[in-house]
Parts: sequence; C-alpha cells; structure tokens
Amino acid sequence: MLQDESSYEKTSFQFKRPTAEDGYAVNQLIEASPPLDPNSVYCNILQSSHFAETSVCAKTGENLSGFISGYLIPTRPDTLFIWQVAVAEPARGNGLAIRMLHELLDRPACKDVRFVETTITPSNTASKKLFQKLANNLKTKIEVSDAFTKEKHFNGLHDTEQLYRIGPII
Ligand SMILES: CC(C)(COP(=O)(O)OP(=O)(O)OC[C@H]1O[C@@H](n2cnc3c(N)ncnc32)[C@H](O)[C@@H]1OP(=O)(O)O)[C@@H](O)C(=O)NCCC(=O)NCCS
Repeated sequence: MLQDESSYEKTSFQFKRPTAEDGYAVNQLIEASPPLDPNSVYCNILQSSHFAETSVCAKTGENLSGFISGYLIPTRPDTLFIWQVAVAEPARGNGLAIRMLHELLDRPACKDVRFVETTITPSNTASKKLFQKLANNLKTKIEVSDAFTKEKHFNGLHDTEQLYRIGPII
C-alpha cells in the first residue's frame, strides 16, 4: 500500500532485521530506486536472511519504506560494507537513510566495527551526501579511491564505482 508524501512527515519508522519473507518487497523497492542495480529476488532473499544482522528494514505499518543491505567483510570483520541503500520515494528527505545507517552501527553485530565502506558512482550526489553526513556524525574522515572501474571491471557498461572508506570510528 502506498502513502502520500505528506503522511510521512509525522510518521515514525519501525526498524527491524529483515527476514527471508521481506526479500520480495526489498526486490521491488530496489527496482523502484534507480540508479541502484536491480537484483534477482533470490539475491534479496539471501541478503534478508544470511545478512540480516547487518541489514535493516524500515517499516511504516506494513509498508517497506527503506532498506539497507550490508555485511562484515569476511577477511576484515572490523569493516561494515554497505551494499545498497534504498528509501521509497515518498519517504525521502526525512532522514531515514542516515537513521538506518546508525541503527546498523548500534547493533551488537557491529560492536567491533571501526570502518564503514561503500562504493558510489561519481554522479550519485545523494549517496555522496549521505555518507559525508555519516562521517560528520561519527566525527571521522572519508578516503575516496577507485574500487571497480568502468573499463577494467564493467567492460565499459557501468560507471566506475568509487570506494568510500569512512573511519576510524572511535
Ligand atoms: C540516497 C537515498 C537513500 C537518501 O535517502 P533519504 O532518506 O532521503 O536521505 P536522508 O534524508 O537520510 O539524507 C541524508 C543526507 O543526504 C542528503 N541528501 C539526500 N538526498 C539528497 C539528494 N537527492 N540530493 C542532495 N542531497 C541529498 C540530505 O540532505 C542529508 O544531508 P544533510 O542532513 O547534511 O542535509 C534515497 O534518495 C534513495 O533511495 N535514492 C535512490 C537509491 C540510491 O541512490 N541509493 C544510494 C546508494 S547509497
């Protein structure tokens, strides 16, 4: 069920760990959130189950208003990698994305996290602002470098993804 934009102003979001049953709704949200790459439903079910401790759903009643998939990098468990962030269009501009990031960092699973990493394409201003805000809130810095490049990794078919490494988080 969709809500109109004005009803979000007074809405409080409920945060929860996703379950496999959220996978389909997550898939629909990601698909409706360009420039994110759409995933298979199966991928979103795995994110919502295997990575539930480091992923978050934001619900407004029964509606999925936001989602973040993340995981601790297996060889560097002090680093939370944020895979995708999506906020449903009518819910944007209410601080939901930044609140979801802090919700993840407050989890027991993230108690030893000292760095947050993500990749961003240079044209995604909203994403850059979001992670700049996270670094500001955490009173730490961001290092930017090329992660996966257009020619070397994407065969020229996708813009270069730049690595944003935020930390150390004290
Ligand atoms: C990017 C996205 C997740 C932001 O969600 P949101 O809940 O509206 O973001 P927030 O309200 O928490 O905003 C966080 C910061 O980013 C800024 N920001 C958010 N959207 C912005 C936009 N479109 N342009 C410029 N700045 C933007 C906010 O102003 C805020 O910074 P400030 O408090 O210093 O002003 C949402 O627009 C979205 O889902 N976009 C499509 C998918 C996508 O690009 N995901 C990004 C991958 S990380």
